[in-house]
Amino acid sequence: MIIAANLKTNFTRKETSNYIEELSTYMNQNAISQEVLVFPAMSSLDTNETKVIVGAQNAYPTVNGAFTGEIGLTHLEEFGIKTILIGHSERRHILGETQESLVKKFNYFKELGFKIVYCVGEPLEKREAGKETMMEYISAQYEGIDTEYENLIIAYEPVWAIGTGLTPTLEDIEEIHATLKSKSKAPLLYGGSVKVTNAKEVLALKNVDGILVGSAALYGEHFCSMIGYAEELS
Ligand code: PGA
Repeated sequence: MIIAANLKTNFTRKETSNYIEELSTYMNQNAISQEVLVFPAMSSLDTNETKVIVGAQNAYPTVNGAFTGEIGLTHLEEFGIKTILIGHSERRHILGETQESLVKKFNYFKELGFKIVYCVGEPLEKREAGKETMMEYISAQYEGIDTEYENLIIAYEPVWAIGTGLTPTLEDIEEIHATLKSKSKAPLLYGGSVKVTNAKEVLALKNVDGILVGSAALYGEHFCSMIGYAEELS
């Protein structure tokens, strides 16, 4: 399974390094064979020699150049980073990234062979508008994306469940995952208010290949427990 932590705009470089160390120690002590990914804030990227895979929350599709506020391939290569998160709802909805710009980014990092965690998910009004509208919305987020890319991981994260403590029912997650699996055979993670208290039941669902965790991942101990659940279930 794939257990991923999106640290968002949290943790300094030092805190991030301590965090990765904590996960790494846990993984070694418990002979964890799951894939553990951590996405730190940009300025907290660093070299990493542990089993934890460190990825970027974002980068601009360029080697370098004049893109104020962005980082490019050079900055990822400095730390040996070959994993990236693309299409997270906060980037779509707060930072205004369009499907078109995400496709460009996707193709750029795909050409370079990056492991890509590509996020999809509907806002509340689309969910409330019924299943058909909701699936249409999510399907549009697959447009232009190579769903057969070998290093692709998809994360289904309902926008209204992110950071809110709300989650779809387990039945809902299972149903949507089954539908999304018909669009791509890539590993499919669930994200949105996954906590140490619900992680195990989510991980146990059919067609759930892992979780993408935000707020609850900031507690190292909790995140380690989630890694442990994945190990138990595998
Ligand atoms: P959350 O965030 O776990 O805080 O809901 C998940 C995410 O944004 O990936």
